[in-house]
Amino acid sequence: RTVYLNGAFLPENEAHISIFDRGFLFGDGIYEVTAVLEGKLVDSPLHMARLERSIGEIGGFLPISTDEIVEIERRLIAENGLVEGMIYLQYTRGAEDRNFFYSKDLRPTLLMFTQSKKLDVASVMETGLKVKTVPDQRWERRDIKSVCLLPQVLAKRIAKEAGCDEAWMVEDGFVTEGASSTAYIITADDKIITRANSNATLPGCTRLAVLDLARAHGLIIEERPFTVEEALNAREAALTSASNFIVPITEIDGKAIGGGKPGPMIAKLREFYMDNAR
Ligand code: PDD
Repeated sequence: RTVYLNGAFLPENEAHISIFDRGFLFGDGIYEVTAVLEGKLVDSPLHMARLERSIGEIGGFLPISTDEIVEIERRLIAENGLVEGMIYLQYTRGAEDRNFFYSKDLRPTLLMFTQSKKLDVASVMETGLKVKTVPDQRWERRDIKSVCLLPQVLAKRIAKEAGCDEAWMVEDGFVTEGASSTAYIITADDKIITRANSNATLPGCTRLAVLDLARAHGLIIEERPFTVEEALNAREAALTSASNFIVPITEIDGKAIGGGKPGPMIAKLREFYMDNAR
């Protein structure tokens, strides 16, 4: 596989990052995951806008333009013959002797690689995913797509040990989001409920695209927090992310949602989204 690192296209085993990289030592970095379907980037402008925003929020700067980044991503897709999967991009503040205070003239580290993976999985639309709720133990700037993912790693481990596919993070009784996805429920009167964007969650690119499509089709959206209790009694539940698009959730903490079967609203949203992505 060819990867991109700081201006160079290299075989993956020839791409090296310093042990003094601040991404490694401090988690001082930002990342993005963009889906690739049929060899094409999905929601690329949304991911580039969020990348610029995240980097701005940590006082960093991109060493090249987002247009150049997209060109690099397309070249990696072509060189690696990627049909379906992801592009992972990581930006860190750069490398220097370990010091909490950073030098202003540091050259950022910019890495991109492709990852082949089946994302459009038909079976998941028949079975749905299982979710486990866990306390949200993250910091207060979850809107920044930081590489500090230890709380999410631990939450996913707990979910997996419970036989679940994703963890839903809970704060003050309300679901914030999934460990790596945005959370939704559908009410008995067909309203799509998901949190409004704030510092409490990552503003999902898939979320933005799905809600735009829902609005265009005249569906009713309520952007507000929902409790675990409300989710357990919801007609349908779902998650969105670049690595899943939109998928139904049929079980939360061992309780069946919507009779344990994916429902019509999420199936419809999935259809809108996949038609648009292709
Ligand atoms: N995660 N919330 C969190 C905490 C996330 O990590 C993600 C994405 C999302 C959904 O965002 P988007 O729709 O833009 O992918 C929500 C990526 C896929 C990851 O960490 O691998």
